[in-house]
Amino acid sequence: MDKALTHIPVMLEEALWFLDLKEDIFVLDATFGMGGHGFQIAERIKPGLLIGLEKDPFTYSLVSQKIPLFSNIRLFNLGYEKLDIAMLKLGLSYFDRAFFDLGISSVSLENGRGFSYKKDEVLDLRFDPRDGKPAYELIKELDEKELERILRIYGEEKKSKIIARKIKAISRKVDVLRTTHIANIVDSLYHPKMRDRAKARVWQALRIYTNNELENLRKGLALALRYLSVGGRLVVITFHSLEDRMVKSLRLYDFVEDITGKPITPSEEEIKRNPRSRSAKMRVFVKVGEVNHHSLLRDRRFANPFKVR
Ligand SMILES: C[S@@+](CC[C@H](N)C(=O)[O-])C[C@H]1O[C@@H](n2cnc3c(N)ncnc32)[C@H](O)[C@@H]1O
Repeated sequence: MDKALTHIPVMLEEALWFLDLKEDIFVLDATFGMGGHGFQIAERIKPGLLIGLEKDPFTYSLVSQKIPLFSNIRLFNLGYEKLDIAMLKLGLSYFDRAFFDLGISSVSLENGRGFSYKKDEVLDLRFDPRDGKPAYELIKELDEKELERILRIYGEEKKSKIIARKIKAISRKVDVLRTTHIANIVDSLYHPKMRDRAKARVWQALRIYTNNELENLRKGLALALRYLSVGGRLVVITFHSLEDRMVKSLRLYDFVEDITGKPITPSEEEIKRNPRSRSAKMRVFVKVGEVNHHSLLRDRRFANPFKVR
């Protein structure tokens, strides 16, 4: 396979350890990606079943080519916020482990929808182009203040005000914003050494907003906790503080036990080998009581504190 179409799984050994896998159990991999974790899990639970979800149709079609090698994986091109659809289709009412490895995979950078600031593409940024509006359309609809807030809150970007002003100015002039429009704006405001990090922050912010990522994560976690069997484990790897804060807030509930306390982070050796793993944090919970996912979603303690729409 083309090197660009591969993804190095983050904290693989740690995730497999904390998932505490056994033969013949049911496991959800909510973010299957290229199966870096999923294939290893499937191998260890045989003849049990791995339910895989992957939202990006590009990644889904690539990884689907490998699925026939595994008789115990059922993969769906579906977001975890719609986990109930997969469970209905399978006729299943529970699983014993749930795993989320959030964020993007290196493969999505190649999906042609503007995920990489290094390529000149239409600024779409949707994981699933059948779901919602592309970023260039949303940016046209936002006013400058709203866009500034998105860059500041979702990207923790200090120059959010001026970047928002410049993006809005260009979006008024062109029909369809491209990645290079945004990249040029950020480059013009930063020293060459700081540019890549600044673009990563801006891309993160626009991607989170376009995909409604924090709200979907809330739904996905609530649904996963509903279907997880009592005694089962939930393992989540996050890549930025907004996601981690949401996952961490599960500690407030007595239906789960937080078994790691402080999050697990990658070893120095892993960070050297795979710098992308640098910001990863893994939290592990055991479900100890029944969960009503509707009431969990209504509970203010599990609300999304960063809601911008
Ligand atoms: C960090 S990658 C997972 C990598 C995978 N564990 C591996 O090692 O190959 C996250 C994946 O989640 C997918 N994704 C993003 N949002 C999603 C959602 N709402 N539901 C399901 N998958 C989603 C992305 O397309 C990406 O492939």
